[in-house]
Amino acid sequence: MSNHNFPALKNDLFLRALKGEEVERPPVWMMRQAGRYLPQYMELRHKYSFFERVETPELACEITIQPIDELEPDAAIIFSDILTVPQALGIDVQMIPGKGPVMGNPIQTEDDAFSVLAENIPEKLHYVMDAITLTRRELNGRVPLIGFAGAPWTLFCYMVEGEGSKTFDKAKSFLYQYPEASRHVMRELTNATISYLNAQIDAGAQAVQLFDSWAGLLSPEDFNEWALPCLMEISASVKGVPMIIFAKGVWYALERLAYKSGAAALGLDWTISPEFAREKTGGNITLQGNFDPSHLLAPIKEIEQKTRRMIHRFGTRRYIANLGHGILPHVPVDHARAFVDTIKNYKQE
Ligand code: CP3
Repeated sequence: MSNHNFPALKNDLFLRALKGEEVERPPVWMMRQAGRYLPQYMELRHKYSFFERVETPELACEITIQPIDELEPDAAIIFSDILTVPQALGIDVQMIPGKGPVMGNPIQTEDDAFSVLAENIPEKLHYVMDAITLTRRELNGRVPLIGFAGAPWTLFCYMVEGEGSKTFDKAKSFLYQYPEASRHVMRELTNATISYLNAQIDAGAQAVQLFDSWAGLLSPEDFNEWALPCLMEISASVKGVPMIIFAKGVWYALERLAYKSGAAALGLDWTISPEFAREKTGGNITLQGNFDPSHLLAPIKEIEQKTRRMIHRFGTRRYIANLGHGILPHVPVDHARAFVDTIKNYKQE
């Protein structure tokens, strides 16, 4: 845990829900809550490139706090990106507006793969730690600050594919053709992620979330062989704060994740029913999610109804309200507010 002298926490609902403690109502935050649906984010986006925003602690701090000022959710997540780790491993990443990430030197050969080495990750990504420490101070204890990293399988997808994709077939083809080289990359990514998350915790992160956004592209067997062991090793080696694992699309792995991953909470995408998730996870782990992000485009009255129904089905204990994936860029701010406010006003029946 961090040695800094940070202001005392005023709202600990999120941390209490992660511990499974009794809460008055579930806490709420939204994945990608700092982003393009906020006009104040767009203003900074016009002035600075994506990685300028990520690499300048003052900007990352300001962007992290924008949704806290605007919507007052119960947790902040540091503004950064999962692709900082591939950058620290020598992959050149550009963020092209309207297209997404593009890598200048993706992994194409076994030699490329074997040359990936996790070294001095906290030093290379010091700007993330600086942003976290600054943001903890600036938040002044209003809400806890979440740190995060991409899971090895999801990072491998981008590092091999070289850009975003719906299927990541280049990455999967590499995995099947060169399992040894792929295993080496996964190992380095796992080590990099462990030192990165531990450094974020030293810098002041009060919880961490692992994003395995592309886990659902793997068959259950491949997930168990390639992705799950990395998640388990990271969770066993990251110490001092609760970890949330968000592995998108792997309903079939919920049981294993709940009993074997050591995570404090599991993030759920919107294709999983609350009842199914509770049954598979045995009721002893906190669940986070899983409002369909596109439902925020529905009329406000419907957002309120659907949100209340979601809480009712999950129950208020061991539950963190969130979306089932990141907020969409064209969601009106008052629709996002309706979601957050409905949870904050929820009264147990
Ligand atoms: O949640 C937050 O508010 C914290 C910030 C955050 C960002 N990216 C900022 C961002 C987090 C947690 C991420 C994680 C991330 N990044 C993931 C995992 C979560 C997920 O959505 O599945 C992934 C796969 C990435 C990689 C990435 N970054 C892609 C594919 C893109 C382009 C697509 C897009 O949404 O534009 C990004 C860019 C990005 N990361 C933006 C933001 C706010 C949009 C950039 C912009 O145009 O300003």
